Amino acid sequence: MSSYTAHFKVWRGDADGGGLQDFQVEVNDGEVVLDIIHRLQATQASDLAVRWNCKAGKCGSCSAEVNGHPRLMCMTRMSVFRRDETVTVTPMRTFPVIRDLVTDVSFNYTKAREVPAFVPPKGVAAGEYRMAQQDVERSQEFRKCIECFLCQNTCHVVRDHEENKEAFAGPRFLMRIAELDMHPLDAAEETGLNRAASAQEDHGLGYCNITKCCTDVCPENIHITDNALIPLKERAVDRKYDPLVWLGSKIRRR
Ligand code: SF4
Ligand code: F3S
Ligand code: FES
Repeated sequence: MSSYTAHFKVWRGDADGGGLQDFQVEVNDGEVVLDIIHRLQATQASDLAVRWNCKAGKCGSCSAEVNGHPRLMCMTRMSVFRRDETVTVTPMRTFPVIRDLVTDVSFNYTKAREVPAFVPPKGVAAGEYRMAQQDVERSQEFRKCIECFLCQNTCHVVRDHEENKEAFAGPRFLMRIAELDMHPLDAAEETGLNRAASAQEDHGLGYCNITKCCTDVCPENIHITDNALIPLKERAVDRKYDPLVWLGSKIRRR
């Protein structure tokens, strides 16, 4: 097994401010960035705050920015860096820092609560739901989401514009709306909720200008933009310019 000493810069601080701290730290074959953060905790910075859980790319806890790229620390191999390269680890930029690498991601839970849940179809008992396999597969892609919030952190609509946070649900939750909108058994429409129209009017779908940065950083390789956001935009536009919907709205207004 070979090992070497790497130069790390790790952001330390809290909501009042902070900065990068330098470390020289041992790296061994096969290690990932999270291993190195753990070694720093064990040997040089016992109070370094980091959130993690599974170390297997499945809990979505260890999101951070490594050399400026939003990534899961447990899935970022040290072998992708040159041995003489400085590795800089900073907290996700879009969310408020609690301490060191730990951010307050409660924005995402607020947005999750704003998406109306699946509406069960009337007259079909639980356990009796039937769907075409292609519908199952379509939503299964979205169900791979581990809620790491890297897409939420990366989308420029909120990354650079704090003021957009109230109006914009972000790619993860627009994807959730798309999933429900494509669900053949969802009966939201019968309650008067058109999910595509609501995505546009209530959840800020129009802010998305399909830059695909969310898709680029998704560790589950979900095609967020192509398979969720663009179809949702198409459905919202179809509805807006559907002559029957237009006529219906005129009649209702009378
Ligand atoms: Fe993370 Fe991908 Fe889910 Fe976004 S869609 S929260 S990047 S797993
Ligand atoms: Fe943002 Fe993804 Fe749209 S990065 S602009 S939500 S395509
Ligand atoms: Fe669970 Fe990294 S520790 S995804």
